[in-house]
Amino acid sequence: MDVKAAVAFKAGQPLSIETVQLEGPKAGEVLVEMKATGICHTDAFTLSGDDPEGIFPAILGHEGAGVVVDIGPGVTSVQKGDHVIPLYTPECRQCKYCLSGKTNLCQAIRATQGRGVMPDGTSRFSIDGEPIYHYMGTSTFANYSVMPEISVAKIRKDAPFDKVCYIGCGVTTGVGAVINTAKVTPGSTVAVFGLGGIGLNVIQGARMVGADIIIGVDINPSKIPLATQFGMTHFVNPKEVSNVVEAIADITDGGVDYSFECIGNTTTMRQSLECCHKGWGESVIIGVAGAGQEICTRPFQLVTGRVWKGSAFGGARGRTDVPKIVDWYMNGKIDIDSLITHKMPLEDINKGFDLMHRGESIRTVVEF
Ligand code: APR
Ligand code: ZN
Repeated sequence: MDVKAAVAFKAGQPLSIETVQLEGPKAGEVLVEMKATGICHTDAFTLSGDDPEGIFPAILGHEGAGVVVDIGPGVTSVQKGDHVIPLYTPECRQCKYCLSGKTNLCQAIRATQGRGVMPDGTSRFSIDGEPIYHYMGTSTFANYSVMPEISVAKIRKDAPFDKVCYIGCGVTTGVGAVINTAKVTPGSTVAVFGLGGIGLNVIQGARMVGADIIIGVDINPSKIPLATQFGMTHFVNPKEVSNVVEAIADITDGGVDYSFECIGNTTTMRQSLECCHKGWGESVIIGVAGAGQEICTRPFQLVTGRVWKGSAFGGARGRTDVPKIVDWYMNGKIDIDSLITHKMPLEDINKGFDLMHRGESIRTVVEF
């Protein structure tokens, strides 16, 4: 079938709206009609050419929501008409990683997903017979996309696509890091470095589980009103204090119970570890640093009980946890609407990237 997609032909070039041929789903795969997709920093990172694993030409996008319109042989977990959120971190429930119960990093299709193809080693997308590669196993910048059934989470049908698409990446990454990775407990003190699309979701996750003190750290004070609306109780501007770590220690009598780095900067990663309370404070790295960068601290920080961790997709097991997060949104426990600052048709998708690069949007959603 012919589908409409924003194609990334080369690194560093704008996306190009094209008619692309899409083959139907093969064994274990599903065809999803995309209804909405968010634009995320990870898409921009790959498009920039800085992502060492980037493959071109490809159809980017990994934060979608849509409807299953066809299924391949052997598919049992979803059927035509089901509403789904594509998962760039699948959940097969059979591999060593899934069965460990200790991680969400399912490896069932890791190798082929990383090469931009479906599990049988081929792409479903092409233009004039030349393959166009998949991206993160999802390729949501197309009005139809094929993906493995283990890469979709079935969600309730009354959830609005243009909002819950954000659960496909940003919301789950932030809220999940609080709940699954750090397991923040009621009454905790929390510091959040970076008040962008990820950090605001960390803040609302911390509020939801009942944190007492939620400190936001950002060099841009224009972030204060929305962060406060989402649950921030204190704000630290690194440009206005002589020492960020000391400023946080002063507010919390020695340091926070949990901190989250949502910037991707190795300097703030160090600060986020060192602002943790001696003996038990835990720091979770969410932000993605540039290729080849390294983090450092004095080992004494760890010997004296601070813990350094990382979190991908909020530690969420997609098929199990994503439908629950959709429920939280539908029940009013988390706010997504306030974070979706822009909406546009696929034809304008490059404007969405421009808004993100200029720091003018929190989330832009493309509606098909
Ligand atoms: N110190 C404090 N705050 C900073 C600093 C700094 N040195 N540098 C940037 N910031 C703030 C910005 O002002 C902005 O509010 O960090 C925030 C980053 O927000 P966004 O640009 O919206 O980024 P976001 O989508 O939240 O992603 C953050 O997570 O997924 C990864 O690749 C993504 O690494 C990135 C990180
Ligand atoms: Zn993302």
